[in-house]
Amino acid sequence: MSKKMTKPEPVGERSSGAGLALKDVRAPAPSLRAQPPIGLPEVGTRAATRPKKEVATKLLTLLINGVAHRVAVAANETLLETLRGRGNVEVKCGCEKGDCGACAVLLDGQAVDSCLTLTWTVEERAITTIAGLGTVDAPHPLQTAFAETGAAQCGYCIPGMIIAAQSMLTNDTDRPTLDDIRVGLSGNLCRCTGYAKIFDAVEKAAAAMCSGGADHE
Ligand code: FES
Ligand code: FES
Repeated sequence: MSKKMTKPEPVGERSSGAGLALKDVRAPAPSLRAQPPIGLPEVGTRAATRPKKEVATKLLTLLINGVAHRVAVAANETLLETLRGRGNVEVKCGCEKGDCGACAVLLDGQAVDSCLTLTWTVEERAITTIAGLGTVDAPHPLQTAFAETGAAQCGYCIPGMIIAAQSMLTNDTDRPTLDDIRVGLSGNLCRCTGYAKIFDAVEKAAAAMCSGGADHE
């Protein structure tokens, strides 16, 4: 007598009769919508209802590129935030933690990272941005040298580079060596150029701005 073959139930598909497939017994997935977002307090907890702390503000006189400005500044505001907030977007914002030098400005002639400088500490000190060094019609020797050397690609790092170079060349009037220039610009990062043309540009400007020293190879 021939035996009738029965077809096996496919695993994972709904079956008829007593054969329960995996899909039938699996628990429903929990809804992600029910979970509070990671890192945020649940609505109604103490952290969520805590009032925001008031930050003190003060009216300061800031000397920006030779012009005095009265500016209301929060106690925790950086000079980078203040300058860009009032339209000085020639001061570039990169890392905001002192690594890239894109935000450099001169403070009484010395290059500082404006992202690490609290605005409350610089009242009535001379703040110079790249826009205060030279204009299109009357460029600074560093700006001329960067343009003539083709030292900029995207250009984002260049204001900070020129500010750092200006600080180096004016605070030590001896003509710098190539190593001096490398050290002087070591706090400024460029992601485009490979630095060679930037160093060439600073050497070229140094020849015009500084005394002594021979032409570098
Ligand atoms: S933005 Fe200030 S050092 Fe990078
Ligand atoms: S020219 Fe693009 S980051 Fe320096």
